[in-house]
Amino acid sequence: MTVQMDPRQKGTVLITCSAGLVDYVRREVEDLGYQAGDYHKTGIEIQGDQYDAMRLNLHLRTAYNVLYLLRQFECYSPDELYRNVKDLPWEGIISPAEYLSVVGRINTGHVKNSMFANLKVKDAIVDRIAEFKGARPDSGKDKDKAVVQFYWKDNFCRLYLNTSGQKLSDRGYRKMPYKAPLRESLAAAIIMATGYDGGVPLVCPMCGSGTLAIEAALIASRRAPGLLRSNYGFMHFKYFDEQKWRQMRSEALKISKARGGKAGFKPAGIIATDIDAGAVEAARKNAMNAGVSHLIDFDVYDFAETAIPPEPGIIIMNPEYGLRLGEIEKLIDTYKRIGDFFKQKCAGYTGYIFTGNPALSKKVGLRTSRRNEFYNGNIECRLLKYELYAGKKK
Ligand SMILES: C[S@@+](CC[C@H](N)C(=O)[O-])C[C@H]1O[C@@H](n2cnc3c(N)ncnc32)[C@H](O)[C@@H]1O
Repeated sequence: MTVQMDPRQKGTVLITCSAGLVDYVRREVEDLGYQAGDYHKTGIEIQGDQYDAMRLNLHLRTAYNVLYLLRQFECYSPDELYRNVKDLPWEGIISPAEYLSVVGRINTGHVKNSMFANLKVKDAIVDRIAEFKGARPDSGKDKDKAVVQFYWKDNFCRLYLNTSGQKLSDRGYRKMPYKAPLRESLAAAIIMATGYDGGVPLVCPMCGSGTLAIEAALIASRRAPGLLRSNYGFMHFKYFDEQKWRQMRSEALKISKARGGKAGFKPAGIIATDIDAGAVEAARKNAMNAGVSHLIDFDVYDFAETAIPPEPGIIIMNPEYGLRLGEIEKLIDTYKRIGDFFKQKCAGYTGYIFTGNPALSKKVGLRTSRRNEFYNGNIECRLLKYELYAGKKK
């Protein structure tokens, strides 16, 4: 007889993120009522069950993946890996009709080729299912169905169900990424770092494909980003409880309707402009996909021409920084002009510049009041904060 996995079984849930974002994930996790446990640069643990994992997938803005720990064990060889994985009741977790993908992160001398370790784990799972069910699931690289993940470091292995499947930062609204877009999870963390919550206007010149403005609109309207996605890893495990998921979604919708949404609260204006009409077109379409286009005013402008609503407010710029796009010489002038624009047109606002080029940021010529460190891919970046006092600072 097959024993189904109990979705109420409490265990360790590891929430992964990109470097630099773990403090934001921790804040989100605590806001959702969980106690954050051990954490490191790219992950944080809580204690929870499969329903908690589903809830985290629905609500987290700054995370990559929500992983549920199945087993941890000492491991000195690929054969030991195979035995430990096969020992688990996979027939109660994954159906033979499912499609399986195995993701391994390996840093051990016990195996030369990480592909070989992946293969061992995949074989162990499908062999076990075949023994109990007479058929084995298909497997491959696609991460949009059942995903099993493992970390094998030195002599120790941790094996997880990846309940997200594809990264949570792939919200699905950005059908038109345009040039050098920020990852959605990074954009959400940047907005969180500004303290924006919809109470004051947010101006986003240089909006590109609109990621900062869209994430701001989602935050201001309390819209769970997971409402935008219809497919998650947990849907491909046998324990998936569709009714419970529908209930979680409708509770999340209620929260957003009470605060924002089309009928209710409208955040103070969000303005998104860019000099490139193609970027604005992409941003507008992306905002429509995200269901927040009614909260954002789009226009094509040189940033210095963008109309600034009365103070107070937040203005955030993400200029190119010359590492991936653009030429440094031309950008020097742009950064100088941003400083002038802040000084002359944005008095009473809090200004932010997100950049990966410290030399260019000096050209702004204003004193920063705070610097938050982030990584955009592997580029070290800063979110620079400027208090743009109206008149003289007392
Ligand atoms: C690094 S991209 C912004 C990416 C954006 N955060 C996203 O996630 O898609 C910089 C943007 O600044 C815009 N830009 C450059 N010079 C500008 C100017 N003078 N006025 C307004 N926008 C400008 C570019 O067209 C580009 O879309």
